[in-house]
Amino acid sequence: MYKKKDLLGLKDMAAEEIIGILDHAKGMKEAFVEGRQLNSLSGKCVTTLFYENSTRTRNSFETAARFLGARTMSVAVATSSVQKGESLIDTGKTLDALRTDAIVIRHSMAGAPDLLAANVRASVINAGDGMNEHPTQSLLDLYTMREKFGSIKGLKVVFVGDVKHSRVARSNIWALTKLGAETVVVAPYTLIPKGIEELGCEVLCDIEEALIGANVVMGLRIQRERQKAGLFPSIAEYNAEFGITSERLYGICENAIVMHPGPVNRGVELTSEVADSGNSVINEQVTNGVAVRMAVMDMLVGGR
Ligand code: CP
Repeated sequence: MYKKKDLLGLKDMAAEEIIGILDHAKGMKEAFVEGRQLNSLSGKCVTTLFYENSTRTRNSFETAARFLGARTMSVAVATSSVQKGESLIDTGKTLDALRTDAIVIRHSMAGAPDLLAANVRASVINAGDGMNEHPTQSLLDLYTMREKFGSIKGLKVVFVGDVKHSRVARSNIWALTKLGAETVVVAPYTLIPKGIEELGCEVLCDIEEALIGANVVMGLRIQRERQKAGLFPSIAEYNAEFGITSERLYGICENAIVMHPGPVNRGVELTSEVADSGNSVINEQVTNGVAVRMAVMDMLVGGR
């Protein structure tokens, strides 16, 4: 069981702790899809503090918190006193003084959740820090894989796209390796961070080679803004060389599930045909995100 105050990353989490969260999320998913309101966080307050944009993660945490009976607060960073120069620690202490029980933080700086956690009474949950980790995204991805295949052990999981800037890939590679899966990253060399193979994954530059025997194909968002940095010649060329297409999927690994943390750039990382196909579990990932976040908050804040 996970018994710490905060959830900051999966790098240092034991395999048994990860499995404990995934097991707990099963019951949470049943309650969520049945519309059965729970009350384990009744009287508690969960605050979202997002210094970066989000659709899925922030709304998923808020939905999960309310489903467990908590009150929610959301700090709109763009219109908050952060704009007047308030520090992260002072913002955290202010939220502590408002008697919040958990702070869900997304920040562009790697390590910001750790800094906050060391300075507040509330539980801190990392909702994405720079290029470091996005632990609850990985947990929901693991949950989805387990739901589809029964077990993570022995799966071949292929990450396609911008590995260099992806906190999702990092958290997933840490966790999947601990749980006995094989991981492969495939991208242009300019989008593969130096030393990534030390995390335990294979590195390839040929998508068709990478997809052989894949059980899971996970697209990672190509950030169009990074075109300015000249990391690859053009979106069209990226798509031609690395796009997840029906031809590649059905020609090489027709039974693989297709995942993506979102937001998806249709026609870039994958075609609309693939995104909307029976192999795609992208929308199931979003639903599973609520279940996993309910489990995490129940364990951290509800004391389960
Ligand atoms: N997957 C994910 O982090 O999506 P958002 O940026 O919409 O939260």
